[in-house]
Amino acid sequence: MNKTIISPSILSADFMNLETEINAVQEAGAEWVHIDVMDGHFVPNISIGVPVVKSIRKKTNMFLDTHLMIENPEKYIEAFAHAGSDLITFHLEATKEPEKVIELIKSFNKKVGISIKPKTPAEDIIPYLDKIDLVLVMTVEPGFGGQEFMHDCAMKIPVIKQNAPENLIIQVDGGINNLTAKICTSLGANSLVAGSYIYGNNNYQSAIENLSH
Ligand code: DX5
Ligand code: ZN
Repeated sequence: MNKTIISPSILSADFMNLETEINAVQEAGAEWVHIDVMDGHFVPNISIGVPVVKSIRKKTNMFLDTHLMIENPEKYIEAFAHAGSDLITFHLEATKEPEKVIELIKSFNKKVGISIKPKTPAEDIIPYLDKIDLVLVMTVEPGFGGQEFMHDCAMKIPVIKQNAPENLIIQVDGGINNLTAKICTSLGANSLVAGSYIYGNNNYQSAIENLSH
Protein backbone atom coordinates (compact mmCIF):
# COMPACT_ATOMS: atom_id res chain seq x y z
CA MET A 1 0.00 0.00 0.00
CA ASN A 2 1.27 3.47 -0.82
CA LYS A 3 2.00 5.90 2.00
CA THR A 4 -0.62 8.47 2.94
CA ILE A 5 0.42 11.95 1.86
CA ILE A 6 0.28 14.28 4.86
CA SER A 7 -0.16 17.97 4.09
CA PRO A 8 0.23 20.18 7.18
CA SER A 9 -1.94 23.30 6.93
CA ILE A 10 -0.04 26.46 7.77
CA LEU A 11 -3.32 28.12 8.73
CA SER A 12 -2.55 26.89 12.25
CA ALA A 13 1.14 27.83 12.11
CA ASP A 14 2.74 30.91 13.65
CA PHE A 15 2.64 33.43 10.76
CA MET A 16 5.45 35.47 12.31
CA ASN A 17 7.72 32.45 11.96
CA LEU A 18 6.47 30.78 8.80
CA GLU A 19 9.90 29.77 7.52
CA THR A 20 10.70 27.97 10.77
CA GLU A 21 7.22 26.44 10.92
CA ILE A 22 7.46 25.08 7.36
CA ASN A 23 10.98 23.74 7.83
CA ALA A 24 9.86 22.08 11.05
CA VAL A 25 7.11 20.02 9.40
CA GLN A 26 9.51 19.03 6.62
CA GLU A 27 12.06 17.84 9.18
CA ALA A 28 9.21 16.01 10.89
CA GLY A 29 8.57 14.00 7.72
CA ALA A 30 6.04 15.96 5.63
CA GLU A 31 6.69 16.45 1.91
CA TRP A 32 3.67 18.65 1.18
CA VAL A 33 2.56 21.89 2.76
CA HIS A 34 -1.10 23.00 2.55
CA ILE A 35 -1.73 26.70 1.94
CA ASP A 36 -5.29 27.91 2.61
CA VAL A 37 -6.26 30.93 0.53
CA MET A 38 -9.50 32.64 1.60
CA ASP A 39 -11.13 35.70 0.07
CA GLY A 40 -13.85 36.73 2.54
CA HIS A 41 -16.51 36.01 -0.12
CA PHE A 42 -16.47 32.30 -0.86
CA VAL A 43 -15.79 31.73 2.83
CA PRO A 44 -16.39 34.07 5.78
CA ASN A 45 -12.70 34.58 6.53
CA ILE A 46 -9.63 36.15 4.93
CA SER A 47 -6.24 34.45 5.12
CA ILE A 48 -3.26 34.77 2.80
CA GLY A 49 -2.62 35.16 -0.92
CA VAL A 50 -0.17 35.29 -3.81
CA PRO A 51 2.72 37.24 -2.16
CA VAL A 52 2.90 34.78 0.70
CA VAL A 53 3.00 31.80 -1.69
CA LYS A 54 5.81 33.56 -3.56
CA SER A 55 7.79 34.09 -0.36
CA ILE A 56 7.28 30.48 0.72
CA ARG A 57 8.43 29.23 -2.70
CA LYS A 58 11.73 31.10 -2.34
CA LYS A 59 12.51 29.33 0.92
CA THR A 60 11.36 25.74 0.49
CA ASN A 61 11.44 22.85 -1.95
CA MET A 62 8.32 21.29 -0.41
CA PHE A 63 5.34 20.51 -2.64
CA LEU A 64 3.05 23.53 -2.37
CA ASP A 65 -0.54 22.29 -2.08
CA THR A 66 -2.66 25.41 -2.61
CA HIS A 67 -6.30 25.30 -1.53
CA LEU A 68 -8.18 28.20 -3.12
CA MET A 69 -11.33 29.07 -1.18
CA ILE A 70 -12.11 31.98 -3.48
CA GLU A 71 -14.85 33.04 -5.90
CA ASN A 72 -13.99 33.02 -9.62
CA PRO A 73 -10.74 31.12 -9.23
CA GLU A 74 -10.05 31.49 -12.99
CA LYS A 75 -9.00 35.10 -12.35
CA TYR A 76 -6.14 34.10 -10.06
CA ILE A 77 -4.79 30.81 -11.44
CA GLU A 78 -2.00 32.46 -13.41
CA ALA A 79 -0.83 34.43 -10.37
CA PHE A 80 -0.70 31.36 -8.13
CA ALA A 81 1.01 29.33 -10.85
CA HIS A 82 3.70 31.98 -11.24
CA ALA A 83 4.02 32.34 -7.48
CA GLY A 84 5.14 28.71 -7.38
CA SER A 85 2.18 26.53 -6.39
CA ASP A 86 2.68 22.89 -7.41
CA LEU A 87 -0.97 21.87 -7.03
CA ILE A 88 -3.88 24.27 -7.36
CA THR A 89 -7.16 23.10 -5.86
CA PHE A 90 -10.28 25.15 -6.54
CA HIS A 91 -13.85 24.68 -5.33
CA LEU A 92 -16.44 23.18 -7.63
CA GLU A 93 -18.99 25.58 -6.08
CA ALA A 94 -16.88 28.67 -6.88
CA THR A 95 -17.04 28.62 -10.67
CA LYS A 96 -19.56 28.12 -13.44
CA GLU A 97 -16.89 26.67 -15.72
CA PRO A 98 -14.88 23.98 -13.94
CA GLU A 99 -13.61 22.54 -17.24
CA LYS A 100 -12.04 25.88 -18.15
CA VAL A 101 -10.37 26.19 -14.76
CA ILE A 102 -8.96 22.65 -15.11
CA GLU A 103 -7.50 23.48 -18.53
CA LEU A 104 -6.10 26.78 -17.29
CA ILE A 105 -4.27 25.13 -14.39
CA LYS A 106 -2.92 22.44 -16.74
CA SER A 107 -1.71 25.10 -19.17
CA PHE A 108 0.80 26.19 -16.52
CA ASN A 109 1.93 22.57 -15.99
CA LYS A 110 0.50 22.44 -12.50
CA LYS A 111 -1.37 19.61 -10.82
CA VAL A 112 -5.14 20.15 -10.60
CA GLY A 113 -7.42 19.56 -7.63
CA ILE A 114 -11.13 20.14 -7.14
CA SER A 115 -12.68 20.47 -3.69
CA ILE A 116 -16.27 19.96 -2.57
CA LYS A 117 -17.91 21.54 0.47
CA PRO A 118 -19.88 19.45 2.96
CA LYS A 119 -23.26 20.05 1.30
CA THR A 120 -22.07 19.20 -2.24
CA PRO A 121 -22.81 15.57 -3.14
CA ALA A 122 -19.98 13.29 -4.28
CA GLU A 123 -21.88 12.64 -7.52
CA ASP A 124 -21.31 16.25 -8.63
CA ILE A 125 -17.57 15.70 -8.96
CA ILE A 126 -17.66 12.36 -10.78
CA PRO A 127 -17.69 13.86 -14.31
CA TYR A 128 -14.31 15.52 -13.64
CA LEU A 129 -12.42 12.66 -11.99
CA ASP A 130 -10.53 11.52 -15.08
CA LYS A 131 -9.37 15.08 -15.85
CA ILE A 132 -7.77 15.96 -12.51
CA ASP A 133 -5.02 14.81 -10.14
CA LEU A 134 -6.74 15.23 -6.78
CA VAL A 135 -10.16 15.52 -5.17
CA LEU A 136 -10.37 17.35 -1.86
CA VAL A 137 -13.28 16.28 0.32
CA MET A 138 -14.03 18.92 2.96
CA THR A 139 -15.07 17.45 6.29
CA VAL A 140 -15.77 20.89 7.84
CA GLU A 141 -17.35 24.01 6.37
CA PRO A 142 -14.33 25.75 4.85
CA GLY A 143 -13.15 28.97 6.47
CA PHE A 144 -11.56 28.10 9.78
CA GLY A 145 -9.14 25.67 11.37
CA GLY A 146 -9.92 23.76 14.53
CA GLN A 147 -13.47 22.66 13.71
CA GLU A 148 -15.01 19.28 14.39
CA PHE A 149 -14.87 16.50 11.77
CA MET A 150 -18.20 15.88 10.01
CA HIS A 151 -18.53 12.09 9.77
CA ASP A 152 -21.25 12.15 7.09
CA CYS A 153 -18.90 13.89 4.66
CA ALA A 154 -16.38 11.07 4.94
CA MET A 155 -18.93 8.75 3.35
CA LYS A 156 -18.28 10.53 0.06
CA ILE A 157 -14.79 8.97 -0.03
CA PRO A 158 -15.87 5.45 -1.11
CA VAL A 159 -18.26 6.89 -3.72
CA ILE A 160 -15.41 8.89 -5.24
CA LYS A 161 -13.00 5.97 -5.00
CA GLN A 162 -15.37 3.63 -6.84
CA ASN A 163 -15.55 6.04 -9.75
CA ALA A 164 -11.95 7.23 -9.77
CA PRO A 165 -9.03 6.31 -11.99
CA GLU A 166 -6.40 4.41 -10.03
CA ASN A 167 -3.93 7.25 -9.61
CA LEU A 168 -6.37 9.91 -8.38
CA ILE A 169 -5.37 11.35 -5.01
CA ILE A 170 -8.28 11.52 -2.58
CA GLN A 171 -7.50 14.15 0.05
CA VAL A 172 -9.53 15.02 3.14
CA ASP A 173 -9.42 18.38 4.94
CA GLY A 174 -11.03 19.48 8.21
CA GLY A 175 -10.98 18.07 11.73
CA ILE A 176 -8.26 15.51 10.98
CA ASN A 177 -6.65 13.95 14.05
CA ASN A 178 -5.24 10.51 14.89
CA LEU A 179 -8.75 8.99 15.08
CA THR A 180 -10.48 10.68 12.14
CA ALA A 181 -7.38 10.02 9.98
CA LYS A 182 -7.93 6.28 10.35
CA ILE A 183 -11.59 6.60 9.38
CA CYS A 184 -10.61 8.46 6.20
CA THR A 185 -7.79 6.15 5.14
CA SER A 186 -9.88 3.05 5.78
CA LEU A 187 -12.56 4.52 3.51
CA GLY A 188 -10.00 5.09 0.73
CA ALA A 189 -8.38 8.51 1.30
CA ASN A 190 -4.66 8.66 0.52
CA SER A 191 -3.90 12.27 1.50
CA LEU A 192 -4.79 14.11 4.70
CA VAL A 193 -4.62 17.82 5.51
CA ALA A 194 -4.15 18.70 9.16
CA GLY A 195 -3.71 22.13 10.72
CA SER A 196 -4.51 22.26 14.41
CA TYR A 197 -3.64 18.59 15.03
CA ILE A 198 -0.07 19.04 13.79
CA TYR A 199 0.69 22.67 14.70
CA GLY A 200 -1.12 22.36 18.02
CA ASN A 201 1.06 19.41 19.00
CA ASN A 202 4.43 20.03 20.62
CA ASN A 203 5.93 17.10 18.71
CA TYR A 204 5.28 17.56 14.98
CA GLN A 205 7.03 14.30 14.12
CA SER A 206 4.83 12.09 16.26
CA ALA A 207 1.73 13.99 15.11
CA ILE A 208 2.65 13.33 11.45
CA GLU A 209 3.49 9.69 12.18
CA ASN A 210 0.13 9.22 13.92
CA LEU A 211 -1.62 10.42 10.77
CA SER A 212 0.51 8.38 8.37
CA HIS A 213 -0.49 4.93 9.63
C1 DX5 B 1 -10.41 25.04 6.50
C2 DX5 B 1 -9.10 24.76 5.80
C3 DX5 B 1 -8.27 23.71 6.43
C4 DX5 B 1 -7.88 24.01 7.86
C5 DX5 B 1 -7.92 22.69 8.56
O1 DX5 B 1 -11.20 25.85 5.72
O2 DX5 B 1 -9.33 24.36 4.46
O3 DX5 B 1 -7.14 23.37 5.64
O4 DX5 B 1 -6.61 24.54 8.02
O5 DX5 B 1 -7.74 22.90 9.90
P1 DX5 B 1 -7.91 21.74 10.98
O6 DX5 B 1 -6.98 20.63 10.58
O7 DX5 B 1 -7.55 22.40 12.25
O8 DX5 B 1 -9.36 21.29 10.91
ZN1 ZN C 1 -7.58 23.59 3.33
